Amino acid sequence: MTVAGRQRNDEPILHVEDLRVTFRTAAGPAPAVRGVSFDVYPGEALAIVGESGSGKSVTMLAILGLLSGASVTGSARFRGTELIGLEPSRLREIRGANVSMIFQDPMTSLNPVLSIGRQLTMVMRAHQPDLSRSGARARAVELLDRVAISQAARRCDSYPHELSGGMRQRVMIAMAISNDPEVLIADEPTTALDVTVQAQMMELLADLRRDHQLALVLITHDLGVVAGATDRIAVMYAGKVVEYGSVEALFADPGHPYTRGLLECLPRLDIRHEVQASIAGVPATPMSLPPGCPFSPRCKYAQPSCSEAEPVLAPHGQTLVACSVLTGVAGSR
Ligand SMILES: Nc1ncnc2c1ncn2[C@@H]1O[C@H](COP(=O)(O)OP(=O)(O)OP(=O)(O)O)[C@@H](O)[C@H]1O
Ligand SMILES: [Mg+2]
Repeated sequence: MTVAGRQRNDEPILHVEDLRVTFRTAAGPAPAVRGVSFDVYPGEALAIVGESGSGKSVTMLAILGLLSGASVTGSARFRGTELIGLEPSRLREIRGANVSMIFQDPMTSLNPVLSIGRQLTMVMRAHQPDLSRSGARARAVELLDRVAISQAARRCDSYPHELSGGMRQRVMIAMAISNDPEVLIADEPTTALDVTVQAQMMELLADLRRDHQLALVLITHDLGVVAGATDRIAVMYAGKVVEYGSVEALFADPGHPYTRGLLECLPRLDIRHEVQASIAGVPATPMSLPPGCPFSPRCKYAQPSCSEAEPVLAPHGQTLVACSVLTGVAGSR
């Protein structure tokens, strides 16, 4: 096994290298993503984990060409095709048919004035022009059934507001898999749902991965949902990956103090009466990046040198960690 948790001969289906996203804001440039690299291999699941504002959504939206008002540099290759700077029509094709995304808020992604059946058939027919209206309708019913929506044929005529939050999330998943993509990006697919429905949603994603040989990128702020559901984890903080490795390695021996903090925040059934742990301090934002390691003001292991240079990812145990104190590798100024 390699230090990043895998050793395979196959090519990554999605290869992201030194991705940078800077928003143009009234207050000046806001560097939201600052040199992110990762690979996703066919059929595998990668989790992108981090607190709110760490750059998880922006990373994936940039890869799919869905950001406006931002400068995006670096590389994101899907099966060798460079997506950054790709012409919009070609990007749209890839987004619909090869790499699809379930957005963070299902209500804003569904059109409130169209039935869900109509929305599903529109998505399918946009990418499969030969598909007849009735064929698309039959497939829409099949898809709703596949994502465990009961009475799928009747539900096809429902409007988004007539569905529960969990059902809407399932419709989003149905829509995202309607054109048989190879990569599915799920942005916080369980956050708005109660714990029982969360578990059902994770099961559904696991079933779909198995049945359709889907590669999954699961974005979440909750390390609790990734343990059984993904193969590798990229932990993000202030627009960078600060730890990268296999799920087993990262849970067994987390390196970065931030990862350890996230793990300590997981609710535990065995300590009912203790106050739930949290990471002290507030997350760094693109407009208020401290000098050196952006986590150092919140880090209980910080040393004076931490505020001098920003650490780079380097091997530590079985994972890659961006912490000069741990790895002994000097950062970049
Ligand atoms: N359109 C925009 N203009 C300016 N800044 C933005 C824009 N979109 C996002 N940002 C900033 O980029 C940073 C990363 O945002 P992002 O949405 O990727 O966070 P996230 O990790 O997905 O958080 P959450 O868990 O809350 O969804 C944040 O500081 C956010 O305020
Ligand atoms: Mg987000």
